[in-house]
Amino acid sequence: MGDRRPLITGNWKMHKTASATRTLLTQLGKQLHGVGGVDVTVAPPFTALGAAAETLAGGGIGLGAQNMHPAEEGAFTGEISAVMLVDLGVQFVLVGHSERRAIFGESDELVGRKLRTALAHDLIPYLCCGETREQRESGDTEPVIERQLRAALQGLPRQRAGDIVVAYEPVWAIGTGLTASPEQAQNAHAFIRGLLADLLGPENAARIRIQYGGSVKPGNAAELLSERDIDGALIGGASLDADSFAGIIRAVAR
Ligand code: 13P
Repeated sequence: MGDRRPLITGNWKMHKTASATRTLLTQLGKQLHGVGGVDVTVAPPFTALGAAAETLAGGGIGLGAQNMHPAEEGAFTGEISAVMLVDLGVQFVLVGHSERRAIFGESDELVGRKLRTALAHDLIPYLCCGETREQRESGDTEPVIERQLRAALQGLPRQRAGDIVVAYEPVWAIGTGLTASPEQAQNAHAFIRGLLADLLGPENAARIRIQYGGSVKPGNAAELLSERDIDGALIGGASLDADSFAGIIRAVAR
């Protein structure tokens, strides 16, 4: 993982009420007492962000949202803006998660607009990318990642670019119990870093943390993060329980 500080993030997806959020974050805070050398962030659902902000106040865990509309405000029934997130104390936002792309039809272009809006409001975008099983089997892993990243990052001002986070999440490894091997993940991460150097310059590429996501567990986290270009993990299922999420964090803490 180079000189980059490991970044471990829980993406809770559509799980946890506000009260369950308070309970989980309180347990997590206790379990992580004294654990250092790692950055920890969580992305609860929108309805629990207020409760999460209160519970996390003054602690070391960062707070993010799972999605956001690219406009500042307007007639977008059911949507949430960057301003609303910042007002709650949110610091980052996931953009382009494969579930948003596949289930909700988000295009590469829309993902790029969200990323730009997030940066304009000082929210750190965690840009997600990754191929499906069919795309991997037909040898299209790299072209798919390249298309997703180019569309989202083209023309991004270089002075802002070092702040972003990229998450590589092969769709076939999400929620399936199938994890990319450390070698498969490292190959994709090295490709992504090369592409970031091309698009955003080598200094930014060396700074940007690239997380791996897809069935990360306490038992496989350390091996994945021992790879040179794997700087963290984006965790779904195993982040919903304090013991397993803290187990992952402890496994990679320096
Ligand atoms: P799982 O850890 O449940 O496979 O989910 C990964 C993911 O999609 C995180 O964003």
